[in-house]
Amino acid sequence: MRPAADFDKSTRLDYADIVETLRHELAVLKKLGTHANVVTVLSASSDCSAFAMPQAHTDLFSLIKHKHGSLSLLQMQTWTQELMRAVSHVHAHGVIHQDIKSSNILLTADASSAATYRAVVCDFGLSREHEIECSSSQVDREIITLWNRPPELLMGASQYSNKVDMWGVGYIMLEMLGGEPPFCGKLDASCSCSNQKQHANFNSDQLCCIFKILGTPNAGTYGMTGELACLSHYSSWPKYPAKLSESVHSGISSLSSDCISAHHISRWQSHISQLLCLDPSTRCSASAALEHPLFHPLLPPPTLGGSDVGDSGA
Ligand SMILES: Nc1ncnc2c1ncn2[C@@H]1O[C@H](COP(=O)(O)OP(=O)(O)OP(=O)(O)O)[C@@H](O)[C@H]1O
Ligand SMILES: [Mg+2]
Repeated sequence: MRPAADFDKSTRLDYADIVETLRHELAVLKKLGTHANVVTVLSASSDCSAFAMPQAHTDLFSLIKHKHGSLSLLQMQTWTQELMRAVSHVHAHGVIHQDIKSSNILLTADASSAATYRAVVCDFGLSREHEIECSSSQVDREIITLWNRPPELLMGASQYSNKVDMWGVGYIMLEMLGGEPPFCGKLDASCSCSNQKQHANFNSDQLCCIFKILGTPNAGTYGMTGELACLSHYSSWPKYPAKLSESVHSGISSLSSDCISAHHISRWQSHISQLLCLDPSTRCSASAALEHPLFHPLLPPPTLGGSDVGDSGA
């Protein structure tokens, strides 16, 4: 058992970290201003250690987990578009969210209709700011929840850009279609080489989970090869064929809707493949993604078909 003084010290440090994270989150939210798909701060305590936000109905992770069978492709399409608008807004302000995952997407009741739900991005505690929209950031620690982490970080790149958020959106699209997280690597499959600090984001099992769906890249043609920190791991990766189209097809086919056509499947597939692109330099930007045919014509807002959607657990 630790002495009381030691316990007090570590507790104080944790509290200071939490307050610092809240301060950062509040500053970023102020910088972002008001946007329909970014969480709003109603008020904050004078020391910024607490702030109030409108109560959301649930979050997307909980909804997928408990109500996947009752979600329609139309709802998923609308939430994807709203999420993309939020990310585009965030990036236009020089911010990288760095934790785009379904539990950080709130579904909030729209003032105009109790049955309409809007996707709202929350949790900017891990976000990073830049003067210029497209600047790259130095990797100096573990970044992004493992399952949602993009391949460039998993491979040990030393720099990253706002394209890490675009990977997160593609991941959520596959998660919505399939009803479960698509790439679920084991936490303990980290890098075994000596440069642990630099390779904090490496995880071979997570990479294999990604390659099982997207196919193992060819070392010679993969755009980031030259700057990867962990090239020694390349040769040991199993060679998986791509099967994204099968995953999208089976996800969409399992949805309970009678108006799904091959047209829908090809649009979803083409959009997801532009986001879940292994090479970040060719991964679609948020502003370009909003122009994708998946969002044309503009769709009516989704309804959840009742009030028992599930609680957010907040
Ligand atoms: N305004 C809100 N209304 C309803 N639920 C909320 C709201 N804000 C957050 N939540 C719920 O609380 C959860 C955690 O919130 P948030 O992500 O902001 O905190 P966190 O401490 O960073 O959590 P984590 O580390 O799990 O991401 C969300 O996934 C959501 O379920
Ligand atoms: Mg969160």
